[in-house]
Amino acid sequence: MCGIVGYVGHRQALDVVVDGLRRLEYRGYDSAGVAVLTGPGQLAVERKAGRLANLETRLDEVGRDGFTGTAGMGHTRWATHGPPVDRNAHPHRDAANRVAVVHNGIIENFAALRAELEADGVELSSDTDTETVAHLLAREYDATHDLPASMRTVCCRLTGAFTLVATHVDEPDLIVAARRSSPLVVGVGDGETFLASDVAAFIEHTRDAVELGQDQVVTITRDGYHVTDLHGEDVETRPFHVDWDLSAAEKGGHEYFMLKEIEEQPEALADTLRGHFVDGRVILDEQRMTDQDLRDVDKVFVVACGTAYHSGLVAKYAIEHWTRLPVEVELASEFRYRDPVLDRDTLVVAVSQSGETADTLEAVRHAREQKARVLAVCNTNGAQIPRESDAVLYTHAGPEVGVASTKTFLAQIAANLMVGLALAQARGTKYADEIAREFNELAAMPEAVRKVLGTIERVRDLGRSLADAKAVLFLGRHVGYPVALEGALKLKELAYMHAEGFAAGELKHGPIALIEEGLPVVIVMPSPKGRAVLHAKMVSNISEIQARGAHTIVLAEEGDEAVRPFADELIELPAVPTLLQPLVATVPLQVLSAEIARARGYDVDKPRNLAKSVTVE
Ligand code: F6R
Repeated sequence: MCGIVGYVGHRQALDVVVDGLRRLEYRGYDSAGVAVLTGPGQLAVERKAGRLANLETRLDEVGRDGFTGTAGMGHTRWATHGPPVDRNAHPHRDAANRVAVVHNGIIENFAALRAELEADGVELSSDTDTETVAHLLAREYDATHDLPASMRTVCCRLTGAFTLVATHVDEPDLIVAARRSSPLVVGVGDGETFLASDVAAFIEHTRDAVELGQDQVVTITRDGYHVTDLHGEDVETRPFHVDWDLSAAEKGGHEYFMLKEIEEQPEALADTLRGHFVDGRVILDEQRMTDQDLRDVDKVFVVACGTAYHSGLVAKYAIEHWTRLPVEVELASEFRYRDPVLDRDTLVVAVSQSGETADTLEAVRHAREQKARVLAVCNTNGAQIPRESDAVLYTHAGPEVGVASTKTFLAQIAANLMVGLALAQARGTKYADEIAREFNELAAMPEAVRKVLGTIERVRDLGRSLADAKAVLFLGRHVGYPVALEGALKLKELAYMHAEGFAAGELKHGPIALIEEGLPVVIVMPSPKGRAVLHAKMVSNISEIQARGAHTIVLAEEGDEAVRPFADELIELPAVPTLLQPLVATVPLQVLSAEIARARGYDVDKPRNLAKSVTVE
């Protein structure tokens, strides 16, 4: 969380930085700020609590002329230390206004650093951990007159996770940055160089990028970049070309990114599957473990958070069925604190859209310390989680700007299922023709999802009609249970409504007490053919809650006549293999939540209190 942009080049830095921040606002929107080097010895800084729009208004008020300069940086904040007020917004400066710093992450030893500075008579003006870095850098620079060297020295004193970007008024043609466990990429243009948390910030200007490694410091000028480790030794970098364009990060005519991203799901699924079944074999993107290691796996943990965790719950059914391996799906935030039983034959599948979620990253680190192998399922090329894993399968869902995960959820399910097939293949628990059949069924899902999207208008109407509901319950069985959990999560985060997902079989063990006249209950029905026994039990469950006054909203396979009498509202889904049903059943629930939220007047792309990637535990 927190978005960072840096620029040195031939354009007005303020324009480049503010445009970049607009594309990074999904990373945090508690406050925003900019700093521009306006000439030797001069630094113009403005920062404002709230959305980027507040900062832009402020810039208009004070006059943008005061920000003329071709080197600058900006920040969009998701608050960690200190409330989201003006004084805590970045950039932070030293007392003499010579150094400006923006930061993403948490400096864990900031209290000790702050105490040291205060003991030296420094007065700090914010509650942040970041401000300590500005003062430390200023002090180092006074001694060395070398900004990159000062950054290296300061970084050696910091513990925690950070991306730092800094300027000094005496070095008006360069910007220095450092990274440890937080993202930072360099964009290489013609006579201009960029820094950003995400390539989306500079893709309008260049698609040539360079990934920075752990504990590396980069200096950018208009002529290029120079990367060293923390000891000042030059290091090799990994240039890459970004293969998606700006339009992929734009709303594509939709009112909200989330709605665009819901519609992109067939493509996200197809892109995720593409190239992973070659010559009759399922292949991963990166494999730094041997086939024998995969064969030796005797237990699987899926660790993830939020929606990604739900994708793991969905995949558990298929992976156990296909591989006969025990699969535990665990919230990453709980995993390492309960001493899980791990050894070199344990495969930990870490699922993360951003690849930088702190809980999941720490779970990965814990697993690797215990010698377990880690396979990352990730949507962000080169992010920290895949970098620290033994194997990687990327979800090619493209950039997801809406804070609530939609297309990446479907892509995660598909990728997790491919992990299951890769394991079944390695272990020989499925014949080659069975694996080919499963893969082909998966490959038919983009079309099935397209079909669901074609019938979604009714769901929009339904959503609008539910805008005043006090709460909504979601019920499912088997793979429908994680779909119910995901439906409830989407509704909570977007519409700020009380929503709960339950395993329908648990209803009589407590939750049925919640049913009252008019309460909307969304039910994900199993297929009447594929899961006849469960289907019959679900019909009984629905009749029980309908008899108690619930307003039943039923998602059922087309042609499911048995459930029709119990459905106050019926949303039909195409018939697909049971294990793949979540891919079609989730889509109407995403639309339902978005429509309820819109009808209640909320910003669907930026739900309150949330950030797209959560890089603190
Ligand atoms: C909900 C949502 C979150 C994320 C969770 C994990 O819509 O987006 O629950 O799924 O924060 O994020 P990643 O996948 O980036 O690790």
